[in-house]
Amino acid sequence: MKILAIHGSPHTTRSTTRKLATFVLEGAAGAGAEIEMIDLCDFRITPCTACEGCSFNGICVYEDDVPAILERMKEADGIVFASPVYIDNISGQMKIFFDRLADAIHYQVLAGKCGCSVATTHTSGGAEVVAYQDHVLNYLGVISVGGIHVATGGNAEAVEAAERDARALGKKLADALRNGLSDPKQEEEITGNREFFRTIVIENRDFRTEEYERWVRLGWIG
Ligand SMILES: Cc1cc2nc3c(=O)[nH]c(=O)nc-3n(C[C@H](O)[C@H](O)[C@H](O)COP(=O)(O)O)c2cc1C
Repeated sequence: MKILAIHGSPHTTRSTTRKLATFVLEGAAGAGAEIEMIDLCDFRITPCTACEGCSFNGICVYEDDVPAILERMKEADGIVFASPVYIDNISGQMKIFFDRLADAIHYQVLAGKCGCSVATTHTSGGAEVVAYQDHVLNYLGVISVGGIHVATGGNAEAVEAAERDARALGKKLADALRNGLSDPKQEEEITGNREFFRTIVIENRDFRTEEYERWVRLGWIG
C-alpha cells in the first residue's frame, strides 16, 4: 500500500505544512503504508494556458514534469494534498498544479483511491483550504478520510502540538485503504460529477478511444 503526499509550499523542506504532512505520512507508515512526498517546487510545472490541447490526446502541449507526477499519483493507493494558506487559499504552486489535472479529472484516471488534506496557516483559512483540497480529491474521484489544519500564530513549532492528530489521520488513511471506506455523501458527489464527465468522454470517443473503452469496461458508460 503506497501513499503519496503532494506538497505545495515554496518553503520546501523548511515548510511548516510539510512538517505536518510528514506526521500524517509517518502515521500511515506505522500502519503499514509505503510513503513518499513530492515537493512541487522541485518540479517544472507550467501553468495551464487553456489551449485545450490535452483534450485531444491527454498530452499537454508543454513538456514538463506533470506527466511524471501524475504517473506517481496513479501508482499510489492514497493521495495527500498539503498546502499552506496563502491569501485565504491554497498556494499558487498548488493551484497551478491542480489546473494541470483537468484532463485527469475529466477522465477520472485516479478514481477509487482514498486521500486526505493538510494545511497550515498563520491565523485563518485552514479549514477552508482543507475543504478545498478535499473537494479537488472528490473531483478526481478520490474519497477523503478527512483533513488537518493548524494555525501557528507565527510559531512553526505549533504544529508539534498537532502531531498526535496528524499521525491518527495518516493511520485512518492507511486503514481505509486496507479495509475500504464507505462515505455515502462523498460517493454521491463523485457519482454526480462522473455523470457530467461522462458526456465529455462520449463526445470525445473518436479520438480518446482508449479512455472511452476504459469507461465502458468500468461500467460507467452503459
Ligand atoms: C503569500 C502568503 C500569503 C499568506 N496568506 C495568509 C492568509 O491569508 N491567512 C493567514 O492566516 N496566513 C497567511 N499566510 C501565512 C502562512 O499561511 C503560514 O505562515 C503557513 O504556516 C506557511 O506554511 P509553510 O511554511 O508550509 O509555507 C500567508 C503567507 C504567505 C507567504
